[in-house]
Amino acid sequence: MTRYGFEVVRDVHIGEVGDVGSHESIAGAIGNTPLVRLNRVAEGLEAAVYVKLEYLNPLGSVKDRAALSMIEAAERSGELRPGGTVVEATSGNTGIALAAIAAARGYRSVVVVPDKSSAEKVALLRAYGAEVHVSPGSRPAHHPEFVRNVARRLAEEIPGGWLAGQYDNPANPAAHRATTGPEIWTQTAGAVTHFVAGVGTGGTVSGAGEFLKAVSRGAVQVIGADPETSAYGGGDGRAWYVESVGHHLHPETEVDQWPSSYHRDVVDRIERVGDAEALRVLHRLSRAEGLLLGGSSGTAIAAALRVARPLGPESVVVVIAPDSGRSYLSKYFDDDWLGRLGFPLLREGTEPTVGVALTIPLDGHVRTVPSRATVAEARALLGGAPALPVLLQRKVSGPAQIAEVLGAASAVTLDRVPDTDPVTAHLSAPLPVVGTTDPISRAAERISGYAGPVVVAHEGRGVTLVDATEIAAAGVDYRGR
Ligand SMILES: Cc1ncc(COP(=O)(O)O)c(C=O)c1O
Repeated sequence: MTRYGFEVVRDVHIGEVGDVGSHESIAGAIGNTPLVRLNRVAEGLEAAVYVKLEYLNPLGSVKDRAALSMIEAAERSGELRPGGTVVEATSGNTGIALAAIAAARGYRSVVVVPDKSSAEKVALLRAYGAEVHVSPGSRPAHHPEFVRNVARRLAEEIPGGWLAGQYDNPANPAAHRATTGPEIWTQTAGAVTHFVAGVGTGGTVSGAGEFLKAVSRGAVQVIGADPETSAYGGGDGRAWYVESVGHHLHPETEVDQWPSSYHRDVVDRIERVGDAEALRVLHRLSRAEGLLLGGSSGTAIAAALRVARPLGPESVVVVIAPDSGRSYLSKYFDDDWLGRLGFPLLREGTEPTVGVALTIPLDGHVRTVPSRATVAEARALLGGAPALPVLLQRKVSGPAQIAEVLGAASAVTLDRVPDTDPVTAHLSAPLPVVGTTDPISRAAERISGYAGPVVVAHEGRGVTLVDATEIAAAGVDYRGR
């Protein structure tokens, strides 16, 4: 027993397969993931914080539960028949789980992924035999190339095709109502007081949250964790970098529809977590707890630590860690990726950073040209600047998310072109980017051979433009010391 008066039960299987450890197929091994207490990361907190390690599901994420539940519901309803094809649009984990379960049951699988998905996730899909279609991630919801529209079309065209549709499939939250929620209740012997989960489709927070609220007669508080700019928590929907959570709004979105898998009445409050905070927590988790987790776990656990801060020793916070950091080694755990965007590095050295060496104003923002501007408007915005990033954006002012830069407008690209043309018809490549946390010599290497303006990014936003010669000179200065 712990001092909280409950035993953390490891070997309770919630589901139909009776025997823990021996299963008739991969599907039987889904669920019953452990809770692990945070120790060093939670130092100074009186409340206990337990992380539910969903990466220990056999296909690697919390999405194993929703995928199995959706396939079984479609088998029951007759929408998915023997020899059929499972189709889905997903940034990865749902597709991986669907593809694997489909493989085990003799179905084909077709998965449409946005082009920003990590290479590791796409390779995994192919390893499970899925046919992968890559579609541009930067399309509004009404656009025919929007990933979910491509998947819908494919499901209609393929004979025997069935669209899983996790965003609006009631079997997604139902999976968490039937398994994730009851597991947490059993594992904490009813001592859980707060439940925290990131919100992507909303299936996890809604389903598990509903169960925990019902079983505790409303006592368990349910908290959604959301990226800072995501629309769920009241942001304007501009891009962020932690994958798989939040609700992004393309600037050209005509009707903003939230997934019906997200039941917002279940959520007592949303904690908004910026990318930099999520990544800092993620790095602490691997180094201080031995927990290598994915980005959305950073978002959720950062939120859980905030939730726990004012709570007393009688409180037990349970937070979902949806997947492992192994799928993101080339992003959230790579100093080259982190540094270029101005995020906290995994290993901070002694060399001066771009931010320090060039005294970059961290709260500044780069002037930009909005993607809807005409050539005449872009020329006026340029003023005397050599070039400005052209940004997919909802407002002319406001932070320039590097992820939303389409290219650059300059006096050269706009020379002798008609005033009334859209600026997007006359762009050069996006300007090079270095980050405030980049060591100065690495930044100089990034732009070697380039002359002209460079965007300096801090925490994923463009904060200023500097000339490449300034970076090169500071790099030489450093090396010369
Ligand atoms: C890594 C990761 N984190 C979080 C989520 C969000 O979970 P949900 O869709 O249940 O809200 C997902 C879902 O795709 C995911 O893959």
